[in-house]
Amino acid sequence: MRNSFPAQNIKYFLLIVFFSGICIQVHSNAIQKQDSVLIKERVLSAEDLIRGERLFYGLVYQGDKSINCAGCHNTRESDTLNWNPNALEIALKYKEKSAADLSRVLLKPGGSKMVQVHKDFQLTPEDIVLIKAYMDEFTEIGLKENKPVITNLLLFIIASILFLISTIDLTISKILKSRWINPVILFITGTFITYTLVVNSIAIGRSKDYAPDQPVKFSHKIHAGQNGTDCIYCHSSAPYSKSAGIPPVNVCMNCHLLVRNGTRSGTNEIAKVLRTFEEKKSIEWIKVYNLPDHVFFSHAQHVSAGEINCRKCHGNVEENDVIRQVTDMSMGWCIDCHRNTKVNFQGNLFYTQYTDLMEKIKKGEIDSVTVDMIGGIECMKCHY
Ligand code: HEC
Ligand code: HEC
Ligand code: HEC
Ligand code: HEC
Ligand code: HEC
Ligand code: HEC
Repeated sequence: MRNSFPAQNIKYFLLIVFFSGICIQVHSNAIQKQDSVLIKERVLSAEDLIRGERLFYGLVYQGDKSINCAGCHNTRESDTLNWNPNALEIALKYKEKSAADLSRVLLKPGGSKMVQVHKDFQLTPEDIVLIKAYMDEFTEIGLKENKPVITNLLLFIIASILFLISTIDLTISKILKSRWINPVILFITGTFITYTLVVNSIAIGRSKDYAPDQPVKFSHKIHAGQNGTDCIYCHSSAPYSKSAGIPPVNVCMNCHLLVRNGTRSGTNEIAKVLRTFEEKKSIEWIKVYNLPDHVFFSHAQHVSAGEINCRKCHGNVEENDVIRQVTDMSMGWCIDCHRNTKVNFQGNLFYTQYTDLMEKIKKGEIDSVTVDMIGGIECMKCHY
């Protein structure tokens, strides 16, 4: 009997702790509860999803204001650098999270960039649940492709059909009485068809102006321009090897161990770098400059022996956020430069093997040596 009294006390004590725990839980997760109630009490209908979509695209007004999430979180694929995370990225990131988590970044943002961009949002818990539902759906919809090619293809098909009809009318059916209409149609469509065919067949395998979106929004304008980091710091094998090399993540980590917040992208892009590093993976950059396999090209030959500046071949890399292929990388491009570029024959030990050319310079027979004179246009130098 003596022992049961304290035991009873402990039971009550535990009971009180347990209930007060629940109370705190309920109180702090007010939003969580609200959205679970919302989801439980009505299964989201098709209209709800449409309202979620309209909210995301800023088509629903709260007073005289609306928030266009899609205005910052791009729903299309793009070629241009938009620093904000796109709609698919954020949708995937929040797929496993709750509407309460979404509510937190929208209504109580943390982090210097997030505070600037998610400011004064007046969204009800219901709005947020609907936006979340649309975002979950978006992971299946995905980013919309940009297809300018289709309009060109369509024009090409229409021109071909017109060309065919016109030819048939001119030779067989002869419906159009006016004699000049068919020749004019044939001339215009014929020119367009030939032009398109010629331009496209030259462009096969070449891709001047190619500038793909990269997995991380890395900017040369910030790193090589604004921060003034030397190209060789990252592309360290350029002076002595065939390939210039793309830096591995641990090179990024030299600085990004400390720099976690970007002025333009906030934490989102640098977080990808950190994650890749922690998972011991590598960032899958998309290669921009590509030569066909049958061509041999060496950076060391050009950067060290030829003393050619990166800009000559890659343009003003440090002035652009996104890398763009600035030349057509045709055989003519290589050959033209080899015909027109003088090599620094005197000061460079590399050229001492060319004794006959050295002799000619001494005798005054030639005053300079261009790359073609040392074999720069021999097929075997560039082709395996
Ligand atoms: C004479 C022209 C030329 C010069 C000068 C030049 N490059 Fe390149 N670069 C190319 C070509 C051509 C390719 C494509 C090579 C391939 O696909 O095999 C390329 C590819 C690259 C790549 C992709 C990775 C690789 O190695 O294939 C990087 C990075 C690069 N260059 C950086 C540089 C840097 C940095 C410099 C200056 C230190 C430089 N390049 C100087 C022509 C040049
Ligand atoms: C020498 C130091 C240094 C190295 C190496 C470096 N960064 Fe940075 N990076 C910076 C600094 C400083 C900033 C902040 C610039 C700002 O906010 O204006 C930055 C910003 C960024 C940003 C965000 C830009 C913005 O304004 O939102 C990204 C993304 C980024 N770096 C990616 C990379 C990647 C990927 C690598 C490795 C290939 C790398 N960085 C290597 C110094 C470095
Ligand atoms: C003014 C531009 C802007 C608007 C409008 C905007 N966002 Fe954002 N949002 C950003 C930027 C920039 C970031 C990345 C900030 C960072 O990582 O520091 C971001 C981040 C996010 C994230 C990721 C948060 C995380 O944990 O990394 C989500 C989710 C998000 N936004 C949802 C929304 C929704 C939903 C709306 C519409 C109600 C919206 N945003 C409206 C600019 C905007
Ligand atoms: C902080 C590291 C860093 C510095 C400094 C840097 N780069 Fe890069 N560079 C990269 C990364 C990462 C990539 C791959 C992502 C991309 O294409 O934007 C790249 C890609 C390139 C490419 C395209 C390669 C290909 O074919 O995909 C070229 C060309 C290039 N850099 C040239 C330069 C030149 C020239 C400089 C100096 C003015 C320079 N880089 C400075 C990190 C750097
Ligand atoms: C901006 C001018 C320039 C461009 C563009 C250029 N090169 Fe060169 N190239 C040079 C110079 C200068 C040398 C001489 C370096 C040396 O002494 O080997 C050279 C040397 C060479 C050599 C060695 C020739 C020899 O006799 O040993 C090869 C191979 C070569 N280039 C291939 C290419 C290929 C392939 C391309 C096109 C993808 C190309 N180059 C584009 C300037 C250029
Ligand atoms: C300075 C380097 C260089 C030299 C020298 C050179 N080529 Fe090329 N060649 C190239 C490059 C670069 C390409 C790839 C062009 C492209 O992708 O559009 C190419 C492509 C080709 C092709 C494929 C067709 C095409 O346009 O893609 C043939 C065939 C060819 N070369 C033959 C030759 C012959 C024959 C010689 C000797 C007379 C020669 N090349 C000398 C650089 C060179």
